[in-house]
Amino acid sequence: MQYRQFGPEGPSLSALGFGGMGLSITGRPPEEAAIQTIHAALDAGINFIDTANAYCLDDTEFNHNERLIQKALAGRSERVFVATKCACVRPGGAWRVDGRPAQLRTAAHASLKALGVDCLDLLQLHAPDARVPYEESVGALAKLREEGKVKYIGISNVTVSHIEQARRVTPIASVQNRWNALDRTPEKSGVLSYCTKHSIAFIPYSPFGGTREAPTLGVLGKIGAESRRRRMSPYRLILAWMLAKSPIVFPIPGARRDENITEAAKAADASFTHAEIAAIEAALPS
Ligand SMILES: NC(=O)c1ccc[n+]([C@@H]2O[C@H](COP(=O)([O-])OP(=O)(O)OC[C@H]3O[C@@H](n4cnc5c(N)ncnc54)[C@H](OP(=O)(O)O)[C@@H]3O)[C@@H](O)[C@H]2O)c1
Repeated sequence: MQYRQFGPEGPSLSALGFGGMGLSITGRPPEEAAIQTIHAALDAGINFIDTANAYCLDDTEFNHNERLIQKALAGRSERVFVATKCACVRPGGAWRVDGRPAQLRTAAHASLKALGVDCLDLLQLHAPDARVPYEESVGALAKLREEGKVKYIGISNVTVSHIEQARRVTPIASVQNRWNALDRTPEKSGVLSYCTKHSIAFIPYSPFGGTREAPTLGVLGKIGAESRRRRMSPYRLILAWMLAKSPIVFPIPGARRDENITEAAKAADASFTHAEIAAIEAALPS
């Protein structure tokens, strides 16, 4: 595993994180298998897990994924950095955003309890709420940090303008946006270069396109041929390409099966020259 500094003042973390969402939403595995997958991630050297209070089936079992992670980490000797999120709610299983400061405070306190900690390593604002000024939502997280309930603050599903607004309120350690072979928005929108310039950790989510799209990764563009040429799976190829693009990148692949995260984690051992990065990009779907 390769380790990198997380954010301008953050700790050294595994370059690959583990995305916990698939272990708690529809299609999730039984709890024992889910814990085995989390342990496989740790055994592969991953010390960074991404979760959210809203990773559950619906609001009757809110904080499901955080409780699962707490259970999986109990008795393990590694220090694991757990990044959680607030601002999403799941009425009847739907996904809604509620970024009102009072709701974010309540959510953060519930996450502390679910994870069994006094201070959250990283609290990310899951998404902007169009009904609430962005600075007010970010301000609620800043207040939680002043109170010692949160170590670092991150934001998710944002533009460069959101990042700038947030940084006027409080230091921002990380940005989490969708980035994969089919959705290369962070490269085009300026978010990836902004994060690189300011040493803000950039966390690509759904790096394989998401659970539904992941099985087709090897048939997109010329990814299959390129990965065979480099003797690595298409999953490793994509993660290694992202890691090579910037030292601030921390992809968080998800997996329900332990063998998948064990395999994907090997991506952190690869390194590419500029010419190799260009060859991989030429193989991505246009
Ligand atoms: N901030 C946000 O708004 C947001 C939104 C979505 C996701 N996320 C975060 O991003 C994480 C990852 O995203 P995601 O789960 O949507 O999708 P993803 O990481 O793009 O894809 C996950 C799928 O890839 C498969 N996979 C993993 N490694 C593999 C391998 N080596 N070979 C073959 N298949 C492999 C897994 O299959 P199996 O399940 O069969 O193992 C899983 O279904 C989430 O867990 C969550 O933490 C954040």
